[in-house]
This record gives sequence, structure tokens and C-alpha cells, in this order.
Amino acid sequence: MSNYHIKQFEEYFQVYRKSVRNPEQFWEEIAEEHFIWKKKWSNVLSYDFSKAEFKWFEDAKLNITENCLDRHLHTKGDKTALLFEPNNPEEEAEHITYRQLHERVCKFANVLKDKGIKKGDVVCIYLPMIPELAISVLACARIGAIHSVIFAGFSSTAVSSRINDCNAKMVITSDGSYRGSKTIDLKGIVDEALKDTPGIESVLVAKRIHSEINMEEGRDFWLEPLLEEAYADCAAEVMDAEDPLFILYTSGSTGKPKGMVHTIGGYMVYTAYTFKNVFQYRDNDVYWCTADIGWITGHSYIVYGPLANGATSVMFEGVPSYPDYGRFWDIVEKHKVTQFYTAPTAIRALAKQGAEFVEKYDLSSLKVLGSVGEPINEEAWHWYDENVGKKKSPIVDTWWQTETGGIMITPIPFSTPTKPTYATLPFIGIQPALMDENGEEIKGNQVEGRLCIKFPWPAMARTIWGNHQRYKDTYFSAYDNKYFTGDGALRDEVGYYRITGRVDDVIIVSGHNLGTAPIEDAINEHPAVSESAIVGFPHDIKGNALYGYVTLKDVGESRNHDNLRMEINQLITDRIGPIAKLDKVQFTEGLPKTRSGKIMRRILRKIAANEIDQLGDTSTLLNPEVVQHIIDNVK
Ligand code: WTA
Repeated sequence: MSNYHIKQFEEYFQVYRKSVRNPEQFWEEIAEEHFIWKKKWSNVLSYDFSKAEFKWFEDAKLNITENCLDRHLHTKGDKTALLFEPNNPEEEAEHITYRQLHERVCKFANVLKDKGIKKGDVVCIYLPMIPELAISVLACARIGAIHSVIFAGFSSTAVSSRINDCNAKMVITSDGSYRGSKTIDLKGIVDEALKDTPGIESVLVAKRIHSEINMEEGRDFWLEPLLEEAYADCAAEVMDAEDPLFILYTSGSTGKPKGMVHTIGGYMVYTAYTFKNVFQYRDNDVYWCTADIGWITGHSYIVYGPLANGATSVMFEGVPSYPDYGRFWDIVEKHKVTQFYTAPTAIRALAKQGAEFVEKYDLSSLKVLGSVGEPINEEAWHWYDENVGKKKSPIVDTWWQTETGGIMITPIPFSTPTKPTYATLPFIGIQPALMDENGEEIKGNQVEGRLCIKFPWPAMARTIWGNHQRYKDTYFSAYDNKYFTGDGALRDEVGYYRITGRVDDVIIVSGHNLGTAPIEDAINEHPAVSESAIVGFPHDIKGNALYGYVTLKDVGESRNHDNLRMEINQLITDRIGPIAKLDKVQFTEGLPKTRSGKIMRRILRKIAANEIDQLGDTSTLLNPEVVQHIIDNVK
């Protein structure tokens, strides 16, 4: 029996038991048999929850790009590695074979070296979903530079704060990007960001939309001429398994975004192993994940996991609604996609448009459907199952996080019986626990609690860049000897898990994690604003939308409230990006506070969700009268 590829439910249980009985032995076998290492580890795992220290495959040497590229050259050199589908359906798709990808990564790596990038340097990548994005990520990994991809929808302020936080030396961007019928001036955003980033020495610019842009002499370089001159050979840097591979920022409930650090060896083993099993990838399959590489889903399941398995991975530049709502299905038909992995928010948006956009296309190639990023509601699950999967393709509802690196709770298709809205069972090696408010583990089934993981797994983030204390405090201080996820979950009568949502102040809007604090900070910058509080409320398509309660400095503020709303949303767009805009803004005389002065978001959430009969006891508030005032003024 191969532990690497699980094909039956019985086998899942057997392998799972093995993986938790003796995790070190289990992961050692997977690592040894399915990857290439330049030197083996001296120790499979060492860890200390109290210090938040975790090491996998200590002292091992490798380069992840040799596992993702070089080793496939003999057997799969002419197989498509990346299949690039452009924004405009009239533009031809590009099939990049393993051999071509290897060459392009090597050339790019040589350009990075020429520009002074060395092992351990940080490179920020701010690119649209074009091949250069995947190639630049791999080029960094080739030479041991640490990549930090910033989703190309973030504003210049968000870009500069990330660049400064991780001390990046270089930015890789493009002249602009296509998004449906629009173009976005990415280079303009980078120029704005770089006014405030002393550490940046150079900027590489890919040409995509052929717009007129500003190029700063001595700092900015067009990528193409440099690539043309670069050598097509570049030896892979010898890396330690525990060297950082990348930094990826995610929102926290307070403070600035957290630069989650993932290291090479464990991340590679776990993303490859999960990819193989969760998508049941077979040799001639065409796998498509619709996420952006700017998020963890794209890192793990467009780039590293698929390429480590020699898979064909589709990269789509555009949006599901352009030129019409049939675009996803058009692409599935055109490239005979076999595995399709998307987010509930996209499913809900497409379901709203009606089935005719799906029915036009031949989706018979599909074998497995995936969902990620937020809880999938029952209606969306059934729509996906009936209209896209024709009730033949299992849906894998995969729960995981930027911090976990790879998929943690998920069905294994064709093995685990699925159940709508349930992520079902822990993946191999993953030991979940539900905790109560007193810090006790809740045993047994048909229970609900806070979701923790009680044993290390190879792809877990190792730290927050530059702030290990925050890493320890956020994830390892709530419960002893456990990683706390920030999510709530229930376990049903057979032990299946259903994720019920965040239990902290992170709000997931259209699958994007947003912290309330940075949004409130942006609003509070408005000269007329005194204070603000953001909560989420249910939204048909986005899952959650943002509701802002704002108090003004001058209570009798005579300015037009609609204008103020627009100005507030503009500030949020400038500081964070359009994804964080508020759907509703209510101006109020005050915010409900505890006697210690903390805003009672629980009450504001109930009002926003129109559940005012469930406010609970408000009499202990510092200012209970404000609650009725807010309710009376809901529009
Ligand atoms: C939520 C995305 C329910 C969850 C990979 C988690 C989910 C956060 C699911 C992480 C799912 C992700 N069901 N909720 N299948 N997948 N989430 O870091 O709240 O962008 O904590 O990673 O998304 O989001 P992140």
C-alpha cells in the first residue's frame, strides 16, 4: 500500500491512524520516498509549543525548485506545467511546458542575481495573474531569496507598509493589469508606494498592458530585455529545510498585518502530499484553482503543490464575469479541466446569474470540485453539486489558513462521503481539538467549540516576520500545547467537522480576511470622524459585508452624510484597497462600551444582522442608552 496516494475510505483511516501514532516515522517515509534532497535530515521533528518553535527535517538540504521543475525534465519535459488563460478570451492561451518553465525560471533567477539579490534577501512581488508571477516566485526560491507576494488589489499604502515591514530590497511589478474590461495602473501604485520605502534598490517591470508609464532611471528596469540576455542555466542554491521560503501577509484582529513565514522543507512535503490526495490528481489531468497567487491558496495550490507533483496547473488572469458569467465554464470546456477549485463567494455570484450560463458548456471533463476560503452555505453547495458537478463530482470543502500552509480538514474525493457545509475529516497527520471557554478540550461527538490543532504538521507557519512574540501570543497562548486557529467549529455525530466561522475580529468578505482595526484606523483619519467600529453582517454573495458605525466629532455635523460616506470609503480604498469598502455606514451619537471602555462589538453585530431581539443584557454597559439610539436610526 502506498501511503502517498489514498484511494479508499478504509485506506484513509489506516493511513490516518499511522500518521498520528507515529508522526515522525510517517512524515519521514513520505519525505524520503517522494522528494529529492541534497542531504537528509538529522531529526524529523523537534518542537516546543511553549516557545512556539517547530522544526521539521532539521539539517536537511534541498531546493524546492528542483522538486518542482528539474526532476520532471526527464519524464515530463514536454508536459504543460502552467497553462495560462488570459483575461481576454480572444487572446491565445499559453502552454508552458516543464522544460520551458525551468528555462524561464533560471533566466529570471539570473536577472535577480545580476540586480544584486542574494540568498536571504526579500523580494516583493506585485503582479497580476500572468506567467511572470509564478516564474518570479520560483526564481526567488531558486536562488534562496524570500518572496513576499502582495495581492495586486492592495493600495499603495498597504504595499509600502508591507515592503517596509519585511525590509524588501526589490519589487517586481508590471506596467499594469487587465481585469475584465478594465485596466489597472499597477506601476503607478508602486511608484506611489516607493516614495516611502528607503530599502528598495530596484524595480523590475514586466510589460503586460503596454501603457505609458514612468520609469525611474537607475531604479526601474524593463524585465524583457534583461531576460533576453540572461543565461538559461542557474544552479539551484543549496537551502536548509528550515530556511524561509516566503512571507505572506494576513490580517489579524488587531494591529498591522502579520507577515507569516513559511519554511522550505515541511511546506514542500505537505503541500505536495495534500495536493495529490485532496484533488486525486492523475497524470493527464488539467487542474485549475481560480485563486490569485497573491493569496496562500495560489502559493500552495497553483504553484508549489501542483508543480511538485508534475501536474498541469491553470493560471487565469481574468474574472468570472468577463466577457460574461459563463467564462469559468468556457475555460473548463476549452481546456478540459478535471479538477476545479474555487471560493464560495464566486459560486454564489455565479448561481445568482442562473443556470443558463453553465448549461451552454460541456463540463463532462470535471472529476473533482473544490471549495475554500470561507464556509460554503447549503444553497451554494447544492448549486455547485447539481449545476457544475452534475451530481457526479465530489465536492471537497477544504478548510485551512495562510498560517497552516496547506489543507487541514477536507474530504478525500471518492473516499470520504461528503456532507453539505461540512469540511468533514482531518487530513492525514492533522489532530484537531475543540476547546471550551475554560481551556478544556471537549471530547466526544455532537459538540461545538473553538478549533485548535494539538500536534505540529509540516507546513505550519514558523513565525511572524520580525515579531516572534506576536506569533506566540496569537496562536499558542490561548491554549497550552495547541495551535489556536481563530475559528469555531462543530463536530457532528460521526465526527465530521463543520467550520462555523471566525471567533475573533477577523471578518471574511468574499473570501478575503479583513481585520477590523486597520479599517477603523483608516476611517478615523477622516477629519470629521471621532470614532468608528466595524462589524460583519450576512451578505448573499460576499458571505459577509462590512457595516461601519461612525461617530462624528461635531455631533451636529451639517455636512451631507452621503458625501461623508463616499469620503470614508475613499479613505479605506486608499489605505487598504477596494476589497475593504463598507456596504453600510451608520452615523451614530456614540458606540456601546463596556465599563472598561471597550467597544461591545457583539451588540453592534446583532444590530447589523437585524437580530435586535437577541441583544442580551445591555444594562451593564457604560452607556446603555446609545443602543436604542442606534437601533432607532438604522436605515
Ligand atoms: C476561513 C485561506 C470554512 C476560516 C485558505 C479560516 C474556511 C480563514 C474554509 C483562513 C472552509 C477557509 N470552510 N471556513 N472550507 N477555508 N476558511 O488565511 O475562517 O485566507 O480561518 O486562508 O478562512 O483564510 P486564509
